Amino acid sequence: MNQAAPLYEGKAKKVFATENPAEYVVQYKDDATAFNAQKRGQWAGKGATNNAITAHLYPLLEGAGIPTHFIERLSETEQRVKAVKIVPVEVIVRNLAAGSFSKRLGVDEGAALERPVVEYCYKSDALGDPLINTDTAVALGWASEADLARIRELALQVRDFLVPYFQQRGVTLVDFKLEFGKLPDGEIVLADEISPDTCRFWDMATGERLDKDRFRRDLGGEAEAYAEMLKRVTQEV
Ligand SMILES: Nc1ncnc2c1ncn2[C@@H]1O[C@H](COP(=O)(O)OP(=O)(O)O)[C@@H](O)[C@H]1O
Ligand SMILES: [Mg+2]
Repeated sequence: MNQAAPLYEGKAKKVFATENPAEYVVQYKDDATAFNAQKRGQWAGKGATNNAITAHLYPLLEGAGIPTHFIERLSETEQRVKAVKIVPVEVIVRNLAAGSFSKRLGVDEGAALERPVVEYCYKSDALGDPLINTDTAVALGWASEADLARIRELALQVRDFLVPYFQQRGVTLVDFKLEFGKLPDGEIVLADEISPDTCRFWDMATGERLDKDRFRRDLGGEAEAYAEMLKRVTQEV
């Protein structure tokens, strides 16, 4: 499919141009990184699992009225997407306290939140994805006020779809990270991926972590956890 050099190679995926300038092919790699790539690893099947999970969820999100970049899964590790201009803002949605939120604010992991929290970070590996607010993004020309309002609305719609979806499959969606992009006509769409790399998933029965924290925190069993999440995601309920 894509013999040419990638347009962009990130930590977990490669992005290739296609014959059609409006479409890219994204190839999911087996590489894992954490803490802004200070910790590196990989395991067989990671790329295929994340590709399959994203390819399952994005059409369901489309069905729930959320526009996405996803077009089709092409192979075990590849999917065709709409080419977008990525808004360089990582959007984090939190349902329970965990991770950097817990650390920064001194709140126990798993503590309840009285409402979901949307946080924004500047997508910059060099700076360690620093926390920003929407004023910062507008002031630095990354997105308009209207774009950011739409992004927040879509992020919360994604949450409203995914929380019960995972709950029905025995998984607590603790938090997740989204990226949005702009189509040539200005429409904001959900881009990138939704996978155990970008979500915190806790097994409702056992509390076991079924996400990248297994790798980040050296818990082991990451391949099994990702495979379990693919099983849950594709489970009929
Ligand atoms: N539809 C799209 N069009 C253009 N770029 C995209 C699209 N979807 C995702 N991307 C970008 O492709 C890259 C995906 O690779 P990844 O390995 O996750 O990168 P990173 O190391 O920046 O997280 C990211 O920079 C992401 O913003
Ligand atoms: Mg990424």
